[in-house]
Amino acid sequence: MFNPSDNMSLAIPLPHGLDESDPPSSVEALSPSSIIEPDSEPSDGAESCNTSTKSVNQSIFEYIRENGRTYHRYQAGTYPFPNDQPESERLDLQYEIMKVLFRGRNFYAPLKNPKKILDIGTGTGKWAIEMGNQFPSCEVTGTDLSPIQPEWVPNNVRFVIDDANEEDWMISPNSHDYIHTRVLLGAFEDFREIIKKSFRYLRPGGWMESQEYMSTLYCDDGTMDSNYAFAEWTATQDKAAMTMGRPLRIANKLKRWYEQAGFVDVHEEIYKLPINSWPKDPQFKMLGRFNETNLLDGLQAFSLQLFQKGLGWTKDEIEVYLVQVRKALSDRNVHAYHKIFVVWGRKPEEGEPSTS
Ligand SMILES: C[S@@+](CC[C@H](N)C(=O)[O-])C[C@H]1O[C@@H](n2cnc3c(N)ncnc32)[C@H](O)[C@@H]1O
Repeated sequence: MFNPSDNMSLAIPLPHGLDESDPPSSVEALSPSSIIEPDSEPSDGAESCNTSTKSVNQSIFEYIRENGRTYHRYQAGTYPFPNDQPESERLDLQYEIMKVLFRGRNFYAPLKNPKKILDIGTGTGKWAIEMGNQFPSCEVTGTDLSPIQPEWVPNNVRFVIDDANEEDWMISPNSHDYIHTRVLLGAFEDFREIIKKSFRYLRPGGWMESQEYMSTLYCDDGTMDSNYAFAEWTATQDKAAMTMGRPLRIANKLKRWYEQAGFVDVHEEIYKLPINSWPKDPQFKMLGRFNETNLLDGLQAFSLQLFQKGLGWTKDEIEVYLVQVRKALSDRNVHAYHKIFVVWGRKPEEGEPSTS
């Protein structure tokens, strides 16, 4: 029998002693309150290292071509990152990294026998497929602008080409048990609108959850100078994204936005994700090594449209600039990390007061 997850697993091992059926009761080891100890060794110790649509026609597959990359055709120009094979492979790697970081979990909200799950901006649909396998009696829908999801998926999983900016999500209000978003920084002009719409489409008592990269770089031990090229790139990308009206720094605001939208029981967990293999701890070292690959693979994709359209740079200028950024990103003397925010909250039951 065909099992999509067998085919797509990148086989990054889960933390010791954990598997998917064994979600952790504590996140202490990976929590931001703990300082990650750098590895003093010069080497990092590596060996070597059934898509359905909303009646949109074939033209959604005629992708926009720019600079040797492809971009979504449906609502063309609204999402500034590519949708081609290299980007899909990067998304799948990123999925595995987050799964290890979350110690095998796909979600944090206390789900009890959900019947309808929606994944906004599902990408390659890996998360939606895993949720479909985990909850066989639940209908899982993933929506996206790009038809980049696999054709063979569990019976209870479907993908729909749909723009989450639309007011009407083609589903009934108060109908869903759980709405999920992951890594949607830079995708929307105002992510609060997505939270508000999710609130409307959730049933009373239903949960929303967002798992989000914070684009800012952090460092706890002073090894990141003010002229560190990767941090400089981050600031430049941020400026470009703001010019384009696609803010990147949304992760640290999600909790407040959830509460403002009316969610209750709003929780926030923050994880540290090293940018390369600088940590001593083997688990963090492995996460850092895979994150370095993820970032190196994504750097051109993250820069091209934003820097060209937001800052007026040429492709050549961008490529030349990225050479030093890549070098900086792989510098293990700089102990930098990203923060990954997980926020989840519940739509109040009928008659239950909300927090705002
Ligand atoms: C960085 S990817 C993340 C994909 C997936 N959530 C994951 O974690 O792998 C962002 C996805 O959001 C989709 N997206 C962007 N704007 C969207 C919109 N307005 N409506 C629906 N999907 C959108 C993009 O096409 C892309 O696949």
